[in-house]
Amino acid sequence: MPSLLITGASRGLGLELVRQYLADGWEVHAGMRDPAAASDDVRTLKKTYGDALHLQRVDVEDHHSIEALAERLSTEAIDVLINSAGTMGSGSFAEQGLQFGKFGSSDYQDWDRVFHINVFGPMKMAEAFVEHIARSQQKKIVTLTSILGSIEKNRIGGLYAYRASKAAVNAIMRSMAIDLARSHGIKATALHPGWVRTDMGGPNADIDAPTSARGMKDLIARLDETMVGRYWMYDGSELPW
Ligand SMILES: NC(=O)c1ccc[n+]([C@@H]2O[C@H](COP(=O)([O-])OP(=O)(O)OC[C@H]3O[C@@H](n4cnc5c(N)ncnc54)[C@H](OP(=O)(O)O)[C@@H]3O)[C@@H](O)[C@H]2O)c1
Repeated sequence: MPSLLITGASRGLGLELVRQYLADGWEVHAGMRDPAAASDDVRTLKKTYGDALHLQRVDVEDHHSIEALAERLSTEAIDVLINSAGTMGSGSFAEQGLQFGKFGSSDYQDWDRVFHINVFGPMKMAEAFVEHIARSQQKKIVTLTSILGSIEKNRIGGLYAYRASKAAVNAIMRSMAIDLARSHGIKATALHPGWVRTDMGGPNADIDAPTSARGMKDLIARLDETMVGRYWMYDGSELPW
């Protein structure tokens, strides 16, 4: 049975991906900050899938917790790592629109947190788990980025910290795709989930989480050497950097 390690599994897209991979018979390591405080949705999945679902404590801001998880799983093979944990920072784009993160209102402590979670988090996860992934069959690393990280597509400005963090993680995934293909035969890429109705996307977003997760899962299943290091959208279309 193939195995998935995913961060940000407590809610939103991470949780929906967990649900869909479990339904497909995968073994899932669902990373969350506080498994003891898991939601009823997570507990129901645990009751349904038992030993196929492992609730794993990991806070991607805390590199010791990432290293501790890598150590706990040191004998495991991880077929797919999905970095789903992410933040737009304090405040809400869903509620404030472009007033959120606008020029002149930067809170640099908040920028710091956004970069720790969205940029250093995926980088550290990949460095901590590269050997676990390399010893698997599928060997894939996927980071959920955003279309807001596309420099080419930015026509409306604003959202400085979030855009910059997702552009940075795009650059990271491009380098990782090149380096890890050579060194470990790992396929790495960046993937935009669409604008999705989660806590982050808000109620007016385009699509629901099951639609996004189905599309992403399909793309991850198809991810081969010709597709790595590119900037994909959940529906299989490609974005400009
Ligand atoms: N929804 C969209 O429209 C959209 C669009 C483009 C890109 N994305 C990207 O897709 C990913 C998932 O987004 P979402 O919509 O599912 O967001 P969400 O509903 O806000 O959920 C965010 C998830 O990230 C976790 N998280 C935050 N900080 C963390 C940390 N330090 N350590 C571990 N986990 C942490 C949260 O855990 P807690 O429950 O502990 O807070 C939660 O599980 C993000 O990377 C986001 O940038 C989303």
